[in-house]
Amino acid sequence: MNTIVNEIFGEEKPERHERFQGEYPVRVRGLVNSFGDQVIHEDLDLDVKRGEILGVVGGSGTGKSVLMRSIIGLQQPDAGHIEVFGQSMTDAEPDEALGVRNRWGVLFQGGALFSTLTVGENVEVPITQFYPELDAEIAHEIARYKVVMSGLPEEATSKFPSELSGGMKKRAGLARALAIDPELLFLDEPTAGLDPIGASAFDELLRGLKETLGLTVFLITHDLDTLFAICDRVAVLADKKVIAVGTIPELLEMDHPWIQEYFNGPRGRAAQGKPIDG
Ligand SMILES: Nc1ncnc2c1ncn2[C@@H]1O[C@H](COP(=O)(O)OP(=O)(O)OP(=O)(O)O)[C@@H](O)[C@H]1O
Ligand SMILES: [Mg+2]
Repeated sequence: MNTIVNEIFGEEKPERHERFQGEYPVRVRGLVNSFGDQVIHEDLDLDVKRGEILGVVGGSGTGKSVLMRSIIGLQQPDAGHIEVFGQSMTDAEPDEALGVRNRWGVLFQGGALFSTLTVGENVEVPITQFYPELDAEIAHEIARYKVVMSGLPEEATSKFPSELSGGMKKRAGLARALAIDPELLFLDEPTAGLDPIGASAFDELLRGLKETLGLTVFLITHDLDTLFAICDRVAVLADKKVIAVGTIPELLEMDHPWIQEYFNGPRGRAAQGKPIDG
């Protein structure tokens, strides 16, 4: 299967980009987002480093999903500048933006698989969208390969989303996000609703994919275990901004009340294997 993938996505793909070699695949400066009178982001800055898993945390409603949607061009910001792979997303022509779009994969909060398509067909959607000339049989093959790579049994390829468990749906969503060999992966709450074993299996899978594929991952999560287990750095959203970015030990040094409460509250201490009181 690898050889097929290489044949298709190798030299013969003119639009295929060189992998991004810069330090920051994502740069956000002075981002402002609002809905009516409600200001969500105000002068927000964030850099995502190449090859890292960046955890993004913040209370519910602080604008994590809106931030992700802004970066991938689904939410037009009121002001600010966003660059992905060194290319401006905020003043790009639609065509240029498309060239960048086929270099990332997205798993939305809630999964959002197409319910009338099988898992395999779901994974084929981005493949045929970006490579319409591709032979149908090869698109099926690639889809099957991504399904297995995401830790699902091969038989799941022909199942409908309604026939899958919650954890299997997440994996199917991951398979679709990986469909076009992205360099950059956006995941919004990928382990929400999974049992702890399922969630830690997902963490392991993600870490393995990051290491073997050299992915950069923007990972929104409330899951403290995930943060401690696989994130290289964590960005904290509060007060309409990214108030801190760093490794967890660096964040633990900060005396912002939300950060202390989050990482050193009972659940944070448990995730670190520390006693709850003391
Ligand atoms: N399309 C929209 N129209 C109006 N308001 C919106 C829209 N999308 C998001 N919002 C508002 O923006 C705020 C931030 O939403 P967002 O979904 O980014 O939160 P979040 O940090 O992802 O929260 P959660 O952790 O619960 O997923 C919320 O108050 C939400 O109601
Ligand atoms: Mg959200």
